Amino acid sequence: MFFDILLYSKYEYIMEYNFEITETLSKQIAVQSSSVEEAYRIVKGLYENEKIILDASDFIEVDICERNDSSIDYFPSSNSLISPYFRSPDRAFTLLHGDCIELLKQFSFKFDMIFADPPYFLSNGGISVQSGKVVCVDKGEWDKGGTPEYMDAFNRAWINVCRQKLKDNGTIWVSGTYHNIFSIANILTEQGFKILNVITWAKTNPPPNISCRYFTHSTEFIIWARKSPKVPHCYNYDMMKQINSGKQMTDVWHLPAIARWEKTCGKHPTQKPLAVLSRIVLASTHSGAWILDPFTGSSTTGIAANLLGRRFLGIDKEEEYLILSQNRKREIEQISNFTLFRKKIRDIAILDGKGLLSMREDVFNYDLPF
Ligand SMILES: C[S@@+](CC[C@H](N)C(=O)[O-])C[C@H]1O[C@@H](n2cnc3c(N)ncnc32)[C@H](O)[C@@H]1O
Repeated sequence: MFFDILLYSKYEYIMEYNFEITETLSKQIAVQSSSVEEAYRIVKGLYENEKIILDASDFIEVDICERNDSSIDYFPSSNSLISPYFRSPDRAFTLLHGDCIELLKQFSFKFDMIFADPPYFLSNGGISVQSGKVVCVDKGEWDKGGTPEYMDAFNRAWINVCRQKLKDNGTIWVSGTYHNIFSIANILTEQGFKILNVITWAKTNPPPNISCRYFTHSTEFIIWARKSPKVPHCYNYDMMKQINSGKQMTDVWHLPAIARWEKTCGKHPTQKPLAVLSRIVLASTHSGAWILDPFTGSSTTGIAANLLGRRFLGIDKEEEYLILSQNRKREIEQISNFTLFRKKIRDIAILDGKGLLSMREDVFNYDLPF
């Protein structure tokens, strides 16, 4: 029997050990035979036919030994100074307020998957058309442009700290546009990630290009990478195939921008659609998985995660977005909304219709250290 055991200490470390536990049972019986080989055959036959039964009264010893191939994982102690901005009663949705690079350094935990939608550094006074009106496309102070060197340094810093928070078999998804995605791809590779795919999200309803001097921007890119080139990752291949009418899912996803029903609690300027995040969660995690979003915004990642029975930690430095996130979580705590949203997200509705979505309850043993 093999056991993976996580030892929690309030004060020092969390340590992960792999143990092999061997129980020895012993019983004496007498058989008549002309040789040792014949005795062995007779006893084996009796045992297989359940004429000899070993039970607790035959127990003589137990041996616990640490497996040689164990990957002992030490990570620094949790910091009691961290206090969540919000935690849902079901403990599946937690928010932290502050700078993700600073906060992630302060506690010990490993996530199964990370989705990050970092600032694109796009807010430089550009214009676009929304509902027939010319509008400024600036997203906020957090998105104001820096130099290419600043963007690289910022991406390097947050990717580095996220890498430390990812399990060895974990994957990271990072979304972006041509402005930042090349910087991100280079830094992921530089830090030892293996890029698995670059998803092109082709928006089925993109905003028009008012200058009429170049093609309408209708795509965003999402890089999917695993932490280690050698350790296998989770990819729910069959589920993706079911969603794609029985054909292999490709890396071009034709999905719409956010719909009205996703904005009932207000809207974040770069809010992602639940359709995109649900597919990401479904493709790369199992039920009960822990998911981190270091730039959570309106927490689309967390809502998709919870709609699919996964657990979530989101971080943002702007309080107004954490309030929006909190309200979105409260919205799906009402069972009618939970059911309605699952029906509105096509991928979930298809899998639900085929009875392919399980919500396992038995995996909730590993929890955040604050
Ligand atoms: C592109 S938006 C994410 C939108 C999100 N995917 C959604 O669906 O709503 C990026 C978010 O990162 C936050 N942010 C920017 N820099 C940050 C930092 N250093 N630490 C934490 N949050 C940050 C911004 O406030 C913004 O809400």
